[in-house]
Amino acid sequence: MNAQKVFYVTTPIYYVNASPHIGHAYTTIVGDVMSRFYRMSGYDVFFMTGTDEHGDKIAEAARKNNETPKSFTDRISAQFRNLWPQLAVTNDYFIRTTDENHVRTVQYILQKVYDSGDIYFGEYGGHYCVGCERFYTETELVDGKCPDHQTEPEFRKESNYFFKMSKYQQWLIGYIHDNPDFIRPERYRNEVLAFLQQPLEDLCISRPKTRLTWGIEIPWNKEYVTYVWFDALINYVTGIGYPDGKDFGKYWAASEHLIAKDIVKPHGIYWPTMLKSAGIGPYKNLNVHGYWNVDASKMSKSLGNVVRPLDLKDKYGLDAFRYFLLRDMVFGLDSSFSEEALVQRINSDLANDLGNLVSRVVAMDVKYFKGKVPAPKAADEADRKITEAAAKTLGEVEQFFRELTFHKVLISIWEFINVANKYIVENEPWTLAKDPAKSGRLETVIYNLMESLRLTAYFVYPFMPDTARKILDQIGLADVKEFRFDDIRSWGGIKPGAAVTRGEALFPRVEYKKEEEAPSKKFEMLPEIAWDDFGKIDLRVAKVMEAEAVPKSAKLMKLKIDCGEVRTIVAGILQDYKPEEMVGRSIVVVVNLKPTKLMGVESRGMLLATDAEKGGLALVGFDKEPVPGGKVR
Ligand code: MSP
Repeated sequence: MNAQKVFYVTTPIYYVNASPHIGHAYTTIVGDVMSRFYRMSGYDVFFMTGTDEHGDKIAEAARKNNETPKSFTDRISAQFRNLWPQLAVTNDYFIRTTDENHVRTVQYILQKVYDSGDIYFGEYGGHYCVGCERFYTETELVDGKCPDHQTEPEFRKESNYFFKMSKYQQWLIGYIHDNPDFIRPERYRNEVLAFLQQPLEDLCISRPKTRLTWGIEIPWNKEYVTYVWFDALINYVTGIGYPDGKDFGKYWAASEHLIAKDIVKPHGIYWPTMLKSAGIGPYKNLNVHGYWNVDASKMSKSLGNVVRPLDLKDKYGLDAFRYFLLRDMVFGLDSSFSEEALVQRINSDLANDLGNLVSRVVAMDVKYFKGKVPAPKAADEADRKITEAAAKTLGEVEQFFRELTFHKVLISIWEFINVANKYIVENEPWTLAKDPAKSGRLETVIYNLMESLRLTAYFVYPFMPDTARKILDQIGLADVKEFRFDDIRSWGGIKPGAAVTRGEALFPRVEYKKEEEAPSKKFEMLPEIAWDDFGKIDLRVAKVMEAEAVPKSAKLMKLKIDCGEVRTIVAGILQDYKPEEMVGRSIVVVVNLKPTKLMGVESRGMLLATDAEKGGLALVGFDKEPVPGGKVR
């Protein structure tokens, strides 16, 4: 095997304090899609995922469950491990930070870094957020609270070991400048560089055992365990056998880390400096994607909107789910999940475009050639359209995969599918079949369509492996063992005479049913608050100046308002109000809410509304014309 054709891809190792959801599924399915693509391209692939099991957060979750950390982590880790095959994820290895070989490697690296003088003992006091497992500086806190968890961190002071991260700051800045792809897409590279403009503090890498025992012991001082991030990041080298395993030498230089934007700092700063200090070369690329939100809100247990991958698989089928995830998210940007959007994709892209193409072509072959692939005659001008489209898509698939623009890969594949659908319409096989001269055109047209189905199966394979197989089964290629790009580089791989059989519809159309609204609950009051707390909410009269629907959203409307100043807010009122009805109306807006982005549009405030008696929403309004910007008390 060519020495350069090696690909190593990792997902974050997931915390075992929560069950897997769509966010975890997305990163891991991206890892799978990439692994399948590189295997198809002849690469030697190693794909790893796993679970992160040490630290305060996990120990606390186990305690809350009345379980020992060991039995708790065994149980939740197994949920992740067992989930992946059900999502057709083909990881080569599943790592746990409680694995013995991982513990050994962490201790080996700690000792190495300590011996080189990059770890020292010192005292530290700071604001610690257990949810994040890290200390926050004053400036990072928002109103004294952790910006991610909205909780006040604890103040902690203790003696600990520190890693001299600051020593490598200049080196890291230089390395990122010299290797523009090191952290990608660019926005995250910029984020890391912006962070590196401030002096780096050294990293506290231990916890006294008096406070936490659930961790890996510091090898030279048994009174301490190591900090969870120092432990966790090392998984990426343990999994391929660092320091002595031969796989380490083979795969490390080709390592691709996949993460979401939440953990850019540990991966973009801690990890490269740790590697540098340990004398290990840097990983190849850090690939960062955005967040899946749900119906435009952040997913969270407390909002009760956590989306479970197996529920969607059971309801809509695995391939449709995988397709949707990769088609609807632009890698690097946030995306909003909704079942409605998923159903739309199934009906249009999968049932209409792809499913129909396969069933029409197979049905025509069965009808006109008794289920045998016909032998083509000379190609003419009309056929060039389809062969050229195939070559174009193949080139684009390979290019866009390398650029991580998976949605573009799929768009390109669908362009080819649509060319094939058009080729049917333009060549009218049903008319050719009636041609008494039997010029041979029908054979050529059907042959080309069968070949297009073969190519389509290969194209969609990384995303929808089961569908790819089902297509090959129908066109007499059930015995293809492996999908390899080399087998679709030239037109004509399907052999005349192959047996074609009709199968079930690949993607039956589905109907989207809105969940019934729960019947209104009895009066349940939130906990009492102080007058002062109410005073913190800045409610204002706002006059709507302009209104328009947010593109691609069924619910969201963008409003330009005058609330004393002109600004934009986004509100989920599109199903109840038309944009033109809103213009000129006076509404009530919370103006000091932290700005948030909804479907890519920044909203600087929230309007007030309630449930209308007859269903839908009713806006809070006024019985006399108020003054824009006036305080609502
Ligand atoms: N244990 C650490 C990672 C250590 S890696 C050395 C951790 N675990 S986590 O369980 O919180 O997983 C975070 C990752 O899960 C994200 O980086 C992303 O891969 C995935 N996602 C979790 N929620 C997500 C969304 N809402 N959207 C997209 N992916 C997200 O951090």
